[in-house]
This record gives sequence, C-alpha cells and structure tokens, in this order.
Amino acid sequence: MKLFVIVLAAVAVVVTNSLPVEVSTRKTYKGYKIHRLSLDSQKQLDYLVNLNEFLMENDMNGEIAFLTETALLAPDFRKPVSVLVSPGQEVEFLKRTEEQAIQHVVADADVAKSLEAERYMSPETKRTVKNGGMTWDAYHRYQTIERYLQHLANTYPELVQLTTLGKSYEGRYLYLLKLGKARADGKTKPAVWMDAQIHAREWIAAATVTHMVNKMVTEYGTNSTSTRMLDQIDWYVLPVINVDGYEFTHTVDRWWRKTRRVNPFNVAIGADPNRNYDHMWMHQGATQQANTDVYAGAYPFSEIENVYLTDAVLERKAQIKTLLTFHSAAEVWLLPWGYDSSVPDDFEELRQMGLKATQALEKLYGIRYGVGSSTQLLGAAAGATDDWGKAKGMIKYAVTVELRDQGYLFNLPPEQIIPSGLETFEAINVVAEVVYKEYGATPD
Ligand SMILES: *[C@@H]1O[C@H](CO)[C@@H](O)[C@H](O)[C@H]1NC(C)=O
Ligand SMILES: [Zn+2]
Repeated sequence: MKLFVIVLAAVAVVVTNSLPVEVSTRKTYKGYKIHRLSLDSQKQLDYLVNLNEFLMENDMNGEIAFLTETALLAPDFRKPVSVLVSPGQEVEFLKRTEEQAIQHVVADADVAKSLEAERYMSPETKRTVKNGGMTWDAYHRYQTIERYLQHLANTYPELVQLTTLGKSYEGRYLYLLKLGKARADGKTKPAVWMDAQIHAREWIAAATVTHMVNKMVTEYGTNSTSTRMLDQIDWYVLPVINVDGYEFTHTVDRWWRKTRRVNPFNVAIGADPNRNYDHMWMHQGATQQANTDVYAGAYPFSEIENVYLTDAVLERKAQIKTLLTFHSAAEVWLLPWGYDSSVPDDFEELRQMGLKATQALEKLYGIRYGVGSSTQLLGAAAGATDDWGKAKGMIKYAVTVELRDQGYLFNLPPEQIIPSGLETFEAINVVAEVVYKEYGATPD
C-alpha cells in the first residue's frame, strides 16, 4: 500500500512538471558536437563530397549531418564547413578527418546545451501585449508572428494591408503584407517583393524581415528614410513561407530545412522548396534522393507553399521590379543564375545594385557581403526562388540574400537580430532608391 502511494505521488509530480506534449518529441542532440572543417585542397573536398554521398545513401544523416549546404562545398568556397556529429560517430569521424589532414575546430562542444540556451534566452513571457507579442530579442513561434502581422494591419490601416495566400500543407495560413502609402495623384508605384524563411532553420531570415517591416511602418512620418521608402515604393512581404518547417524547427528538430509534406512516392518527409520551382528544375545542384536536404520534390511545384508564392508574385507582376528572398547564413548577395554558371544579359546592372546595397550594409557594422551569381559563389542550385523570379516572374532584379553567419551558421544569437535588421535595412533602402530612380511612378 505504501509503495502504491509513493508511485502515485511520483506520477503526480511528473504530470505537474510536464511540458507541452510536443516537447517529448524534441530532438535534444545530446552528446552531439559541431565540428568546423577548413579545406585547402580538391582532395579534401572530394573526400567530403563522397562522405556526404555515403551518409545519404546509408541514411546516416542523423548521425553525421552537414549543416553547411552541400552545394556550398564548391571548390572556391572560402568558408568552413560545419558538421554535426553524434557521440557514437565522433571517434571514427575525427580519425578520418585527420587522415585527410583536414583542419578542424570544435565549434560547439555541447549542442544540447546550446539549443536549450537558445530556446530559453528570451522567453515568450517578455512579450508586450500591444504588438501581438512580437519582439526582436528572441526568435518567435509562428503564432506570435501571425498575431504581430494582424496587429500591424489593424494599427496602421493607411500603410499596411494583410492578405491570406492560403493554407500550408499542415493547415497554417500564409500571409502577405502590402506596405506603402498610396500616392495622392493616384499613380501606381513600383514595388519590391520580399520573402523569408523558405528554409525552416534559417531563423534570422524572418526575424530580419519583420524588423525591417516594423521600422518602416512605425517610423513613417517621423524618420525621413522610412517615410520615403513607403511613399515611393510598395512592399509586398511574405515573412514566413515554409511555415510548417519553421514550426518543426521550434518543436522537434532545430536543423530541419525542408517542408513537412508527406511524400506520395517515398517515406522521407518534405522537399527542399528552394529546389522546387520550375525554371530549369533539377538541372544541377538538386537531387531526386528524397532523404537529402536538397531533394527537389517529385515534380516542380509539388510544394503548395511555392505555388502560393508564385501566384502572388504573378498577380502583381506589372508592379514588382525587385524580388529579394532572404536566407542565412553565408553573407552573400546572390544573383541569377543558380541553375548553371551562365549569367543573364543584364547581370552587370544587377551586380551594381548588389554592390551598392552591400556597401551600405557594411558601413553600419562592418559585415562584408560577397556579390555574384549563385552558382559562381556557392555552387549550382537549380529550382530556386531567384531563378524563378528572373525567368518566369520577369522581375529584373531577382536576388537571394544570405544573411549573417558570424561563425554561428543557423544559430545566430538573438542579440544579433536587431543589428541584422538595421544593416539589412540600409541595403533595402539602396534597393528602393535604385528601383524608384529607374521606374518612378506610372499612371494608373
Ligand atoms: C532614420 O533611419 C535611418 C536608417 O536607420 C537612420 O540612419 C537615421 O538616423 C534615422 N533618422 C532619425 C532622425 O532617427
Ligand atoms: Zn537557405
């Protein structure tokens, strides 16, 4: 009888302390480490490419995972390669790495602890009810972002319109913001499209974009830069594309990248939505191997989120002159083409805008971005948003912006959200100037 009571008491304690159900499935990455490898020869690169192939073929990417996109293993890529290694594989991994004379440092010796710290750094309790709970000292759940978008539309009806594009695979709404002050003369303004978070784990993307949106809208009428940006340009903003994947990175696996669609033809979940557009689909830098991070999907536009994005752009095609799609973390301003190493005829104009924008960005905190074609800087990646925007959306300036890395890859500390927002704002201000100068306003 006594034993029974004790057991009951123990159960009671477990119940009262229990966290929401979702937490029980969270991948804690206990004992995992992140190693950063620096390559200095083609032989070493070949070794890693082969290793990655081997891991994928043997479904071992849960044991050793390349966090750096495999496309980034291009020969002239200057940045280190981050690899997540399980405790069971560490000895073997290090032995092989040393055999290949690959330089390595332990970038994170206790991944589980870092992930917990990231989660609890700025708990949601800090939220002010006023703006839907949004802050830029933490990475927020999708629900908070949703409430914030609704707050903006309700509070600034003259400047902000919110529309729903449709529901994600798992049933979450995707939203599009339109920011801008209507012209008194009724003329149509040129527009800039911005989207973020097509890759689930690149948290700084949506955080940066919402910070820029907030700055423009809340400073309208008090800051001349923000005022001009909303007076001269209309901004279409899709702050979170891959909503299901984004939630999954909060609840289960911090390094999930793809969508969460159950594939009709295989057991692996999701596809890389940034390989799923139909321009030169599967040409290079994408695969039909479904358990990889660059799985292009069984066919172009298999992912509904991609369809929403392209439909929304095409509906506003006459107005949109620039498309900026935000990712992390490589600190580069990437231009078409990403399907092979050729560039469009007007590449030089695109590059000039990129140079001006990234110079303005660098001025604020000294972060230096590379500017060039996707393929030339990072390696081919066919089926991406910017290629689609340029080729099918007929948008002259189509750009992939890879935001801050600073040695943290996808886990940029939340203290860097505001600096990232402010410096990237400088870049989009340059974009706004170029677009306005080139296109001005047209009669309605
Ligand atoms: C307006 O915003 C810009 C861009 O962040 C900034 O450089 C400038 O100092 C601000 N102006 C005022 C008056 O706050
Ligand atoms: Zn990305």
